[in-house]
Amino acid sequence: MKALILAGGAGTRLRPITHTSAKQLVPVANKPILFYGIEAMAAAGIKEIGIIVGDTRAEVMSTVGDGGQFGVAVTYIPQDAPLGLAHCVLIAEEFLGADDFVMYLGDNLLEQDLSAFVHAFETARNGAEPPTAQILLKQVPDPHRFGIATLDANGNVVHLVEKPADPPSNLALVGVYLFDKTIHTAVASIEPSPRGELEITDAIQWLIDQGYRVRTELLSGWWIDTGKLTPLLEANRLLLEKIETRLDGSVDEASAIDGRVIVEAGAVVINSTIRGPVAIGAGARIVDSFIGPFSAIGDDCIITNSEVEHSVIMARSTITDIPRLEDSLIGREAVVVRTQKRPRAARLMIGDHCQIDVE
Ligand code: TTP
Repeated sequence: MKALILAGGAGTRLRPITHTSAKQLVPVANKPILFYGIEAMAAAGIKEIGIIVGDTRAEVMSTVGDGGQFGVAVTYIPQDAPLGLAHCVLIAEEFLGADDFVMYLGDNLLEQDLSAFVHAFETARNGAEPPTAQILLKQVPDPHRFGIATLDANGNVVHLVEKPADPPSNLALVGVYLFDKTIHTAVASIEPSPRGELEITDAIQWLIDQGYRVRTELLSGWWIDTGKLTPLLEANRLLLEKIETRLDGSVDEASAIDGRVIVEAGAVVINSTIRGPVAIGAGARIVDSFIGPFSAIGDDCIITNSEVEHSVIMARSTITDIPRLEDSLIGREAVVVRTQKRPRAARLMIGDHCQIDVE
């Protein structure tokens, strides 16, 4: 079993962050989103991972490296343009060979361990009617926003439809798929959709139409497609919920730590209140400030005389004299300062290297 992780794409819904960097490398709870996917594959016992990379390939490659830090071997597969999820399978054929594989969307986060999902496919593949594919489904309240599956009485898929106006069920396709080598014939047989992409739902529908069996598994834990700001902050909240207190940095006597908080080595907290769950990265400085629940402060950030809550502040950014910053995503090396002294709350999505004066 191999894995194919998709970390190319355009990331239009997370601009301006994605103008300068890969959305899969945005940190949640101070760890890049992509790392959770790689770790999930490694935990499922997969050793060979192909990663599809696009315009942001240099950053992805330098951050993930050869996979040694995760105990896996990574092969990079460049994609010239984001031509669709099925296009990713098409260009990965040489890497995948005749092996079964998991395809994982690199911007998705799942609460559940994926080992059981992978092993269920392996077991079914050795059974009487081996499936050629397995998809993971999750009941959602808003099915018109997702790829939606219709099942028969045995739990096999009979029909898939993308973002239906009149949804036939509330079972959405989660960004984790299992395939055998038949998918290579499927992706070579379909045409691009009206939006110009080779759709994986069309490739799976092709399998069904040819009489192949597509199994399903139902996901019980949470699943988040982090491609937009609100779900990204939600993922940060859900992952921070799971942290345990660890104070490796220094916290002075005038400061208060309340709830579950991580202060990494080299971080300094001076005359401040940190109300968890909060993660503070290595080398960060928090001075005369309040850091409220569900905030992740990146490495080497400097927060001075400010209040931050429910936000992701990426590495090396500076926040100064901001009375309240909430529900925000701040890129790397950004500078946010307030020049006028009137009290103001701010909700911001700021790209890397920006300088914002809040007046
Ligand atoms: P999407 O979020 O569906 O697409 P996108 O990244 O182009 O984003 P947006 O809609 O905001 O412009 O992609 C899901 C994952 O698959 C994501 O990690 C990017 C990756 N991907 C590729 O690697 N190649 C592709 O051709 C596409 C469409 C996506």
